[in-house]
Amino acid sequence: MSEILTSIADGILTITFNRPDKKNALTGAMYAALADTLEAAETDGTVRVILFTGNGGAFTAGNDLQDFLTNPPEGENTPVFRFLRAISMASKPMIAAVSGVAVGVGTTMLLHCDLAYAAENAKLSLPFVNLALVPEAGSSLLLPRMVGHHRAAELFLLGEPFTAATAKEYGIVNAVFPEDKLLGEAMTVARKIAAKPPTAVKLTKQLLRQAKGDVAGQMATEGAHFRAQLKSAEAREAMTAFFEKRPPKFA
Ligand code: COA
Repeated sequence: MSEILTSIADGILTITFNRPDKKNALTGAMYAALADTLEAAETDGTVRVILFTGNGGAFTAGNDLQDFLTNPPEGENTPVFRFLRAISMASKPMIAAVSGVAVGVGTTMLLHCDLAYAAENAKLSLPFVNLALVPEAGSSLLLPRMVGHHRAAELFLLGEPFTAATAKEYGIVNAVFPEDKLLGEAMTVARKIAAKPPTAVKLTKQLLRQAKGDVAGQMATEGAHFRAQLKSAEAREAMTAFFEKRPPKFA
């Protein structure tokens, strides 16, 4: 079965991360499928709203670390950067329904979603620095704007998991629901927006995006550091330690 599932109903494109045995960690192939889907949605009149969710009790464990080790993204046109560009440029409202882990891009992509909902069991994290990497997806601009510098610094510099309740308190998610109610609640909101006048919705989203600042510029700066750090000895050690199930040792 495909690792990225898509369906369109009632004007809602539902995109489901479907690699549950790896907590929906995202490979290059999955990013490519996501980017293709989002690019196609831009011109598909039957899509009014995009909803992201994950199968198997996880949203996503973020970028596949094996992929980072064996096939690190080199340029701006690699699948991961195509995906990041697509979510940052999407003209239609995006909603996330986050249950279980949302690691790395699983959390940074929420900053591009217009609405985000979490299950009570959601566990978010931004462990970039622990992996000897830097924030991506414009999150070094978007997160401090959303939650303030001190909170953003804590989340980025410590890279520790935080709860759905904290995410709600910080404004990273709109609301928290019991896990079995999450998708239904997110769908209800998606249906409401899908029924509204599409041009007014798009223009409203566009105006809100303009207020976010130079996200593309920040993404380019982050991307250069990210790609350079991926090749570093400290990143290799951090990722190898994950697979060897041991604490990393940095010189
Ligand atoms: N890349 C590759 N494989 C991953 C992965 C990732 N990002 N996240 C989880 N997996 C794999 C694990 O290696 C494990 O595989 P195995 O069954 O073959 O050993 C499987 O998914 C289940 O993960 P596990 O660690 O056993 O689940 P858990 O519930 O104890 O912990 C996480 C879940 C997400 C907290 C933990 O797996 C984790 O920290 N993953 C790394 C996340 C990360 O650093 N992402 C990159 C951010 S930039």
